[in-house]
Amino acid sequence: MSKTCIITGASRGIGRAIAVSMSIRDDISNFVLISRTESGLEETAKQMNSEKHITYFALDLTHYEAVKDLVHEIGLEYGTIDMLINVAGYANPKSILETSIKDWDKTYQINVHSIFNITKETVKFMKITGGKILNVASTAGGSARPGWLAYASSKAAIINMSQTLSEELSEYGILVYCISPGRCATELRKVLAPDEDPNTIMQPEHVGEVVGQLLSDNGVCLDGQNIVVRKQVKKNQKKQPSKQTT
Ligand SMILES: NC(=O)c1ccc[n+]([C@@H]2O[C@H](COP(=O)([O-])OP(=O)(O)OC[C@H]3O[C@@H](n4cnc5c(N)ncnc54)[C@H](OP(=O)(O)O)[C@@H]3O)[C@@H](O)[C@H]2O)c1
Repeated sequence: MSKTCIITGASRGIGRAIAVSMSIRDDISNFVLISRTESGLEETAKQMNSEKHITYFALDLTHYEAVKDLVHEIGLEYGTIDMLINVAGYANPKSILETSIKDWDKTYQINVHSIFNITKETVKFMKITGGKILNVASTAGGSARPGWLAYASSKAAIINMSQTLSEELSEYGILVYCISPGRCATELRKVLAPDEDPNTIMQPEHVGEVVGQLLSDNGVCLDGQNIVVRKQVKKNQKKQPSKQTT
C-alpha cells in the first residue's frame, strides 16, 4: 500500500538521515519534508530514493497556522497521513540565570509547541486510518543536565507527550514512538559541545537506521517507550571534553 510520511527537521542532521533511510522502504510512496532551509531540504531530497514522490516546504514550524494549513492540504491530497516523524529541534544551552524568558519561549515553541501543533493536525486524518508517530526527544530529557535547563526540560516534555499520546491514541490504531538519541554528530551537537571531535560520536545515519527499523512493518513492539539510541564508548576511548555529555 502506498503510504504518506511527513518528516520535520529534514534539512540536515538526524532528520536528513531518517528521510534517506525511510525512503529505501517499499511501503511509503509519498514524502513531505519540512524545515526552514530550502537548500537543505533540496539536498535531502536529492539523497533520497529517486523513485519516491518527494515534496518539501521551507516553513518555520512555529508559524502554527501555516503548518495547520499545510498538514490539512497534505491530508486532503493523499487521503490520509500514515506517518509523522517529528525531528526538528533547537538548543541554546545556558544556566537558569543566563536564560532569558525569550530564549525559554523559543526553545519551548520549537521543541514542544510545534510538535503539539503538527501532531494535532495530523491526528485529525490519522485517526481514520491508523498510523505511526515518532518523536525525537533526547537523553537530556531523562536525567539532569545542569546548564541546559530549557533544552533538557523541553525534551522531558516530549518524552511524556509521547507516552501520553501512545495511550490516548491507541483506540485509533495510532502507535506513538519516542527516541532519545545520545551524542550525535550534527550542528545542534556542536552548539552543545563545541570542543568535541564529531568523529568519536554517533553519526546521524545510525539514528536513521534505528528509526527505519522501529517504524517498519515487522512490528517492533516498542511504542510508548522512551527508546535510548546511543553509541557505546569503547573502554579505552577517552570521552571528549564537553560542557555536558548526553
Ligand atoms: N545531535 C545530538 O546529539 C542530539 C541528541 C539528542 C537529541 N537530538 C535531537 O535531534 C533532533 C535533530 O537535531 P540534529 O541533532 O539533527 O540537529 P540539526 O542538524 O541542527 O537539525 C535541526 C533541524 O531542526 C530544524 N529546525 C530547527 N528549528 C526549526 C523551526 N523553527 N522550524 C522548522 N524546522 C526547524 C532545522 O532546520 P532549519 O534550520 O532548516 O529550519 C534542522 O533541520 C533535535 O530534536 C535534537 O534535539 C540531537
